[in-house]
Formats: sequence, C-alpha cells, structure tokens
Amino acid sequence: MKAVAVRPGVKQSAFVADLPDPRLESIPNGRGVLVRTLQVGVDATDGEINEGLYGAAPKGDDKLVLGHEVFGIVEAVGPNVTHVTVGDYCTCTVRRPGPTIYDQIGRNDITSHHEYYERGINLLHGFMTEAFVDDAEFVVKVPQGLKHLGVLSEPVSVCAKGIEQAYLAQQRLQVWEPRLAFVTGAGQIGLLTTMMLRLRGLEVYTLARSRNPGLKQEIVEAYGGHYISTLDTPMEELASKVGRPDLIIEATGASHVAFEAMQVLNLNGALVWTSVTGGDHKIQNFPADKVNLEWVLGNKLLVGTVNGNRKHFAQGINDLALGEVTYPGVTERILTTPIDGLDDPQGILHELENRANLKVYVNVGTA
Ligand code: BGC
Ligand code: ZN
Repeated sequence: MKAVAVRPGVKQSAFVADLPDPRLESIPNGRGVLVRTLQVGVDATDGEINEGLYGAAPKGDDKLVLGHEVFGIVEAVGPNVTHVTVGDYCTCTVRRPGPTIYDQIGRNDITSHHEYYERGINLLHGFMTEAFVDDAEFVVKVPQGLKHLGVLSEPVSVCAKGIEQAYLAQQRLQVWEPRLAFVTGAGQIGLLTTMMLRLRGLEVYTLARSRNPGLKQEIVEAYGGHYISTLDTPMEELASKVGRPDLIIEATGASHVAFEAMQVLNLNGALVWTSVTGGDHKIQNFPADKVNLEWVLGNKLLVGTVNGNRKHFAQGINDLALGEVTYPGVTERILTTPIDGLDDPQGILHELENRANLKVYVNVGTA
C-alpha cells in the first residue's frame, strides 16, 4: 500500500513508501476502525517536517509517514464500535494518549509529558496512505452534508480549541463580552477562525502581510470580516484607528508577530498563540518594561494552544456546518489546491511555497 513518508531531520526527504495493508485486528478489544483515505490536507507543519526542522519517526523506524489532516470513509469496524459504521464519512484526531493524568481523561491535547505522540508528526505514522486503522476513540464522524469540507475537520478543530481556551480562561473575569477581535494570519487557521468568531458575533479584523491578497480578502469579507494588509496598516496603527482588540488569535507562523500582538491587546483582553515555530528567530528591541507594565496593569491573558481533542473536532465540525448555512459556499473557496494521488511527494509539498494556495490537499481515493 502506497504512503508518503519522510526521513525526519533530513531536508526535503519526502518519498513514496510501501506499507503493509492495515488490519482491523491490530487494534485491541474489538475497537478497530478501518478507514479508506479520501483526502489528506497538507499544512505548514508538514512543510517544517519535510524541511527537517520538526517531527520524529516512530521508535525503531527511520521514516515517518506524513499526514495529520484526514478525511475518509469507514470500510470496516470491530464488534465493539458503535458511533461509526461502514460507509460513514470520518476524520481522526491527531494526538494519542501519553502517560499523564490529562491523557487518562481524554485530554491528550494538553498532555504534560514532554514527549507527545501525534500521527503524522511525532513518533506515530500519519494518514497519508491509502488506508489506515485506529481505535474508535479517535475516529470522529463527519456528516454526509459536509463531505465537501471534510478535509478541513482537523484545522477547524485547532481553531475550535483556541477559541474555547480563550473563553474558558476568561471566566476569570466573571463577565467577558469581547466585541473586537484581531486574527493575525490569513492561512487556513486565520480564515477559519475569522468565520468562527463572526459566528460568535465579534467584529473581526484579519491581518496579513499581502497587499494583493485576492481570494484571502474575498473570503474574509464574505465572512463579514475586514482584511488588513499590515504593510499598509501595521497592527499598532490599526489598533489606534479601530480600537484595541479584546481578543487576538495569532496564527501567522511568525513568532515576532506573536510578540507584536502583545503590544496592542485591550485591557482584560486575551491573546491566543497558535503558531508552531520550529525555527530559531530572535527579536531585538522588544519594549519589555512597557509591555510588562501594561499587561500587569491591564490584567491581560496570554494562552498558548495546540492540537484538539475529539470534543474540539465535534465543535469545529458544528461550526463548519453553521458556517455553511450562514455564509453559503464561502468555506469551500479555501480549498484551492487539490493534488491527485500520492505519487509525487516533493510536488505535493512544493505547493506549500506558493502563497496563492490557501489549502493544499491530496485526493487519495474516491467515495
Ligand atoms: C497540528 C496539530 C499539532 C501541532 C503540533 C499542527 O500542525 O495541526 O494537531 O498538535 O501541529 O505538532
Ligand atoms: Zn496541522
């Protein structure tokens, strides 16, 4: 069976690997779900892994099968599986339990173990294969009517968790009624977050560098948000024009923007960091005293967030559905760049470098 794998730590090593067919019985307690892969999304994390900056192979293996954003169809289930059945569309969570108390209560997404297990990213093979098996615990059903957006289930789970974390943490304030949000970054996470914050009634400014954003701007505006090029209007200038945001979701992939965002947050505001930055960038001349003082006097909150558990997948899928009826046909415009088949791994990853591509994904099979 065909798969796309890399040699972690080696630059541009993606290659077509041959894997044994998955077996339902390899999952204990009759809890196996055999899934035939329909689509696999590719994102900046896959890019970093293929650049040798991030990711690790399963212990005892020298390759890592890529792919952590999957949409598939159930082919077979073990006798103790009840929530999905043959023919259902589905997606899969990414992180698998480690040894901590958080993992034991189904919160693998907040494991406190330094070693985390993520399919297609760290220590576990991913979904960029023709078929795979997993425990029913990690398989999430996607409704028939959302099959055209199913490949966005994982990214939208990451957004759902980020938003949830802000609202949960802000319960510290007893009342929090955020009005104005900045979303930094107009990649898939930025765009989906824009939609989800609009669904929650916020005024949203989505900030990205491009002066010529074309489709990104159209999508932001179709969701009722405002697209801002930071080359024309830097974040501080925007804040002085439209007000300081109560909520900032940072999703540029650039750590300096994460720190820049600290300088514009409103009193009592929440800043959510989502960028996974595998590089080694430093910033100089950060106004540390000023930011520290403002954060203390303003009771501000910073929360880092990663991954999503099955509850976040469910919330994200609900939001995709509500987004479809609220902004019909908009979200599918994110799906710019389908690639047929697994035969050209470097070609697949190369598409990430084209800034005009919002979502690169591979059509692996047909329903
Ligand atoms: C994935 C998350 C994962 C994170 C860190 C992201 O690209 O979408 O599921 O937890 O990378 O590895
Ligand atoms: Zn990802």
